[in-house]
Amino acid sequence: MPQPNGSISFILNDREVTLSDIAPTATLLDYLRLDRRLTGTKEGCAEGDCGACTVLVGRLVGDRLVYEGVNACIRFLGSLQASHVVTVEHLAGQDGTLHPVQQAMVDFHGSQ
Ligand code: FES
Repeated sequence: MPQPNGSISFILNDREVTLSDIAPTATLLDYLRLDRRLTGTKEGCAEGDCGACTVLVGRLVGDRLVYEGVNACIRFLGSLQASHVVTVEHLAGQDGTLHPVQQAMVDFHGSQ
């Protein structure tokens, strides 16, 4: 739910983001790829079937963050208030070392 002034705030990877004037139909996928150039999140079917656009979205449940995989192509941007969005770019170590999942994608020629 947006804040009273119509804006939303959430954490994208390791940075706080505040957005206003969000189109009601704006998707998380378009925001990531077109506005933030986080193109590791892919567009395949664009209708929630293939999983190419999967990101993690975490929310506070009680006193802990609970993450779930979501299809960014069908997730409206305006629904992300107070959440933590994690994209594939954020999985690598700070020294650039690939996460084991990323390394497996490289080793086995994965595409999504
Ligand atoms: Fe296929 Fe999102 S692009 S599920």
